[in-house]
Amino acid sequence: MSKYLVIQSSVRGADSASGQLADRFKNQLRTIPDNEIVERDLGGNPLPVLDGALLGALFTPADGLDAEQKAQRALVTALIDELKAADTVVLSAGMYNFGAPVQLKTWFDYVLQAGRTFQYTASGPEGLMKGKRAILLVATGGVYSEGPAATADFMVPHLKQLLAFIGITDVTVVRAEGMALGPDAARAGLEKALSEVGTLQENLLAYR
Ligand SMILES: Cc1cc2nc3c(=O)[nH]c(=O)nc-3n(C[C@H](O)[C@H](O)[C@H](O)COP(=O)(O)O)c2cc1C
Repeated sequence: MSKYLVIQSSVRGADSASGQLADRFKNQLRTIPDNEIVERDLGGNPLPVLDGALLGALFTPADGLDAEQKAQRALVTALIDELKAADTVVLSAGMYNFGAPVQLKTWFDYVLQAGRTFQYTASGPEGLMKGKRAILLVATGGVYSEGPAATADFMVPHLKQLLAFIGITDVTVVRAEGMALGPDAARAGLEKALSEVGTLQENLLAYR
């Protein structure tokens, strides 16, 4: 059995290009009966952005927590447990201001926890999520895979860095590019990415 954690982060619902990539991918996964898929829709059900109370909940001994802090801590534990259980983590996101949207960044703020998903050792930090792989399904208004804007892509390198920090270095990226370059370019960019998602199926079967 292969376990997938699929996290979508666009706030645009059915109009979302990155969401359409994730939906196509999930539909493919469902054709293989013993795949287990856990889903999180961070666009539709956003995680509260990290604040002082939440930080307190994470770093206060359990017996000192009030009811709200206990609920916050339980949510963080649930998110980390979902990540730990997955063989493959699928993250879909549209680029906002050259980076990942806050909805997805917040998920990382919750799950990157010392002692749980990484640890500090005498020789530096060590990821504890080794052996998993990740698939990034990203949508961008412009084109970043090549050309003059390539150096302005702070989303994919950042996401890769966050994943590497917890030990996930096997990362496949599918890009729907040109979503803001007019209807023809957007359609072509999305179709190309959807087709790439289609070919992931073969790799998935090989990976099992
Ligand atoms: C607030 C905002 C900021 C954006 N910033 C960028 C950007 O920096 N670079 C870019 O190429 N596209 C940018 N876009 C366009 C989105 O990346 C594009 O619409 C993408 O399709 C959004 O993902 P989604 O369709 O999955 O929601 C931005 C869109 C919004 C709404």
